Amino acid sequence: MKEANPAVTDALQQVLVDLIALELQSKQAHWNIQGTSFRSLHLALDEVVDKTRELLDEVAERLAQIGAFPDGRPETVARTASIGDIDGGKLETQKTYVLMAEKVQAVSDEIKEYIDPVDEHDHISGDLLISAAGELDLQAWFLRSATD
Ligand SMILES: [Fe+2]
Repeated sequence: MKEANPAVTDALQQVLVDLIALELQSKQAHWNIQGTSFRSLHLALDEVVDKTRELLDEVAERLAQIGAFPDGRPETVARTASIGDIDGGKLETQKTYVLMAEKVQAVSDEIKEYIDPVDEHDHISGDLLISAAGELDLQAWFLRSATD
């Protein structure tokens, strides 16, 4: 296999840290929401966690396949993730539906920006990004549709 293009590895690395941050924040919200529709959001957030975890593993392993070293260390995630943190303590359910829908959509939209530049060098990685964005669009829609 020829050496991976930095346009591909940089994009996949950024997507990796943002997916890890999204997974961690979704779990944080899963534990700390309180309010109306608690149960629905509690379960929906765990679906986001599960899907995001599958996607981030695929992205990390694609990086490894093309000769890069995926960096999912906590310090790297904290320093380079682009989605901002989530508040500690109690999270109000309806606000958290909106917040998490926005975060999931933000990661999906970021991934979409990378599809063309990545696909130019590596169709397999491009295809991975397309399916990741599709899955996140679905999850964002689920969350968004539960808000008033
Ligand atoms: Fe749980």
